[in-house]
Amino acid sequence: MSPLLFLATLFAVLLSSVTAQTWTSCNPLERDDCPNNPALGTSYQVNFTESVNEVIWNITNGELDYNDKGVSFAIKERLESPTVQSQFYIFFGRLEVVMKAASGRGIVSSIVLQSEDLDEIDWEWVGSDTTHVQTNYFGKGNRTLGDRGRVHEMDAPMEKFHNYTVDWTAERLQWWIDGQLLRTVTYDEALGGKNYPQTPCNVRLGIWPAGDPQNEKGTIEWAGGEVDYSQVPFYMTIKRLRVEDYSTGKEYEYTDRSGSWQSIKVHNGASYLYEEVKKPPPKSLAQRWRELSSGAKIAIYASIAGVVAIAFAVLIFCCIKQRRAGRREHIIEESRFTTEQNDMITMQTQWKSQKYHQIQS
Ligand SMILES: *[C@@H]1O[C@H](CO)[C@@H](O)[C@H](O)[C@H]1NC(C)=O
Ligand SMILES: *[C@@H]1O[C@H](CO)[C@@H](O)[C@H](O)[C@H]1NC(C)=O
Ligand SMILES: *[C@@H]1O[C@H](CO)[C@@H](O)[C@H](O)[C@H]1NC(C)=O
Ligand SMILES: *[C@@H]1O[C@H](CO)[C@@H](O)[C@H](O)[C@H]1NC(C)=O
Repeated sequence: MSPLLFLATLFAVLLSSVTAQTWTSCNPLERDDCPNNPALGTSYQVNFTESVNEVIWNITNGELDYNDKGVSFAIKERLESPTVQSQFYIFFGRLEVVMKAASGRGIVSSIVLQSEDLDEIDWEWVGSDTTHVQTNYFGKGNRTLGDRGRVHEMDAPMEKFHNYTVDWTAERLQWWIDGQLLRTVTYDEALGGKNYPQTPCNVRLGIWPAGDPQNEKGTIEWAGGEVDYSQVPFYMTIKRLRVEDYSTGKEYEYTDRSGSWQSIKVHNGASYLYEEVKKPPPKSLAQRWRELSSGAKIAIYASIAGVVAIAFAVLIFCCIKQRRAGRREHIIEESRFTTEQNDMITMQTQWKSQKYHQIQS
């Protein structure tokens, strides 16, 4: 590894801790009253070309752009930072994301698995570096400098869609790109397990202007420099995603403050998220039409014909009414004109006769 790359790695380790996605609303290592985490308890694949199911995903910031490629997380204006977070948690499992990272100095794209006690598994792309991806992990929010972060050379992450897979068990953690193993970290390698991610994680996806001038100097440097907002929009695009929970259950509970995987109790059953992902995806109009029986289609044609006929009748009725109204107006107009004309004639007559009288006199 070159000294420069090594320095970049150190920066990554130190500073990716500042990502916008890293937070918890209730840390089970500090409190005993945190809610249980709803389990996915199954595997599920989704294409984000039309919408994001908001029962399953919480759009935690900004808005998403849907297009035929998938869903885009866009920075179009200063400080925009669209992010989503899954409502479900996986307790060991596999996350596959087919995506294209955003280019642009100071722009960071990320895929994160994170738990409520701040275990974390990351993919990150710095927009000014179009040939590398960074991997990182954290245990129990320990962000002191170590050798957890890595920078990996790869083929055009901002030009091409790639399949980024994390495969995570109690024994080891792996990052894969397009079916090729990139990195393995074992439980023991992670400070004898102390820094090993091992509690139920949800999925967080997003883009972040880490190089915004208001951020700290170190963060801006890690992000490759200040964001040039004259270059907007910046897009990170996700084509599809598959996630698999290696545990089955309804929810996950922290039974003590150790943060160890042995302390997590799996409650039996199926969560509302399991039910939700098992529902068939909403069908497009064309699909629903194709699936109708010919009888139903005839009925629909007939009712459309009916509607058209009614519309036509209404149109004609209105036209006739309009014409009648027009005619009535015309008559009124005419009669008004006649009255005025009569008056004029009267006046003229009077005027004439006056004149006549004047001449005569
Ligand atoms: C997603 O799209 C791929 C091809 O683009 C298709 O094979 C797959 O069935 C789709 N999955 C869902 C859940 O719609
Ligand atoms: C979505 O996330 C926000 C925090 O970013 C939280 O305040 C809100 O309650 C969440 N919504 C749901 C439905 O969980
Ligand atoms: C946090 O991680 C660092 C670096 O790996 C390690 O030296 C330190 O002991 C860890 N702290 C705890 C409390 O585990
Ligand atoms: C990602 O790659 C793996 C390994 O090639 C493959 O099994 C999986 O189906 C891919 N996932 C998606 C969502 O395309």
